[in-house]
Amino acid sequence: GRVAVLFGGSSAEREVSLKSGQAVLSALVRAGVDAVGYDPVDGGLVGLEALAPDRVFIALHGRGGEDGTLQGALELMGIPYTGSGVLGSALGMDKQRTKLVWQALGLPTPDAEMLDPDADWQAVVRRLGLPLIVKPVHEGSTLGISVVESVEALATAYQEAAQFDARVMAERFVQGEEYTVSLLGDDVLPAIRVEAAGGFYDYEAKYLSDETRYHLPCGLQSEEEAALGELCRRAFVAVGGEGWGRVDAMRDEHGDFWLIEVNTSPGMTDHSLVPQAAAHIGIDFETLVLRILAATLE
Ligand code: DAL
Ligand code: MG
Repeated sequence: GRVAVLFGGSSAEREVSLKSGQAVLSALVRAGVDAVGYDPVDGGLVGLEALAPDRVFIALHGRGGEDGTLQGALELMGIPYTGSGVLGSALGMDKQRTKLVWQALGLPTPDAEMLDPDADWQAVVRRLGLPLIVKPVHEGSTLGISVVESVEALATAYQEAAQFDARVMAERFVQGEEYTVSLLGDDVLPAIRVEAAGGFYDYEAKYLSDETRYHLPCGLQSEEEAALGELCRRAFVAVGGEGWGRVDAMRDEHGDFWLIEVNTSPGMTDHSLVPQAAAHIGIDFETLVLRILAATLE
């Protein structure tokens, strides 16, 4: 049957999604699948219905594609789709409520609190310490995120994040190494350690810089890597993640891991992490895309 690859969309991650979607679409076409690309911005759900796809590959990132709203619409339309369902998508898009679930299960994640424009910045710093990382609750690709080293910088960081989201949180910033673990069906793919040239893996480091280093193998002892993988798998399942996804974590100077966030529709660009992790164990991009797609029928 026909597969519609949804990409583009109207979120702040539109540009990333266009690249993810193009890569996915050409891989499907190369594999001989009857696939068409569709940008929901151009025709909404009505246009999608007119395409009459048998399945949908979601290559959208951020709100309106990764956050459960589209998943709900597809459920109602009766069209199978890749990745997590309504709940997992909605929860995974909410960094604060994801954290609450992890904390309830005793999974390690840095303390955080919500900020509002009238927050007592001194009190926030007293409770959480410095440095802090300030982020919009529903955003991807590090948009609107800043690291704050002083109480004076907190208000500016709040303003920056508030441009992306009405809900902004401050989280204790774990200094150390950054890891990401990709999940494909029941498989945990090799962890990648990400090292941004500027020390912070931001939007520029993710998509534009050629200086970001991806360590694969990640350099951990195999037992430690297995523990990280199991932690990330549990973290993904805890929020209702399904099919495929990616969990980001930090490792502090004591060697302890801290869960940061879940991505239920991870990037599939040529710089992206899931394709790199898959390639490392011999799953080429085409096979990866077909496996993600096959999971829609399970
Ligand atoms: N939010 C971006 C697309 C990622 O997680 O890869
Ligand atoms: Mg993310």
